[in-house]
Amino acid sequence: MNNSRCLYPGSFDPVTLGHLDIIRRAAAIFDTVVVGVLHNPEKKGCFSVEQRVDMLQRVCRDMPNVQVISYGGLLAQLTKETGISVVVRGVRGVADLESETAMARINHQLNPALETLFLPASPEMGEISASMVRQLAAFGADLSAYVPQEALPVILAAFQPQ
Ligand code: COA
Repeated sequence: MNNSRCLYPGSFDPVTLGHLDIIRRAAAIFDTVVVGVLHNPEKKGCFSVEQRVDMLQRVCRDMPNVQVISYGGLLAQLTKETGISVVVRGVRGVADLESETAMARINHQLNPALETLFLPASPEMGEISASMVRQLAAFGADLSAYVPQEALPVILAAFQPQ
C-alpha cells in the first residue's frame, strides 16, 4: 500500500498497553496511523480530552508515523473530512467482535468508502481495559503492567488524594 493511512479511534480514558499494542502493529502496516480521541456518548469520561491527547502523544513519541488528534463528532464524519478510508479496531474476544461488527456496519453505512479492519488483541492484553485501570488507580495499585510508562505521571496525578 502506497501512502496508506488508517484511523485508530477510541476513548483512551486512559491509554493502556492494550491500545499501545494495536497502535504499534498498525504503525508497522500503514505509512501513517492517525490516533483519534473520540467521544463515546455512553461513557462519562474520567480524563479530559486534552489529558488523553497528551498521554497518547507521550506514548507515541518514538513512532514518527503516528499522529494524535481529537474529534467531537461522528467517526464516519471524521473519515469523510480527512479522506481516511480505513479504521483499525482491536478485538479482545467474541464480546468485542459482536459490538465492533455492529459499529463497523453502521460506520460503513454512513460512509460507504470506509472499511474497518479488526486486529486481534495480543493474548497478554486480553484482560486489560481502561475502566479496570481507573479502578486500580483509584485504590493506589501498581499500574505498570497495564499502562505505558509515559502515561503514568498523568494518571497518578489525576488520582492523587487532594
Ligand atoms: N486491548 C485491551 N483493551 C482494549 C483494546 C485492546 N486492544 N482495545 C480496546 N480496549 C478496551 C478499552 O480500554 C476500553 O475499555 P473500557 O470499556 O473499560 O473503557 C474498551 O476496550 C473500548 O474502548 P475504546 O477502544 O477506547 O473504544 P470505545 O468503545 O470507548 O469508543 C469510539 C469507541 C470512540 C470509536 C466510538 O464510541 C465512536 O466512534 N465515537 C464517536 C461517535 C460515533 O461515531 N458513534 C457511532 C459509532 S457506530
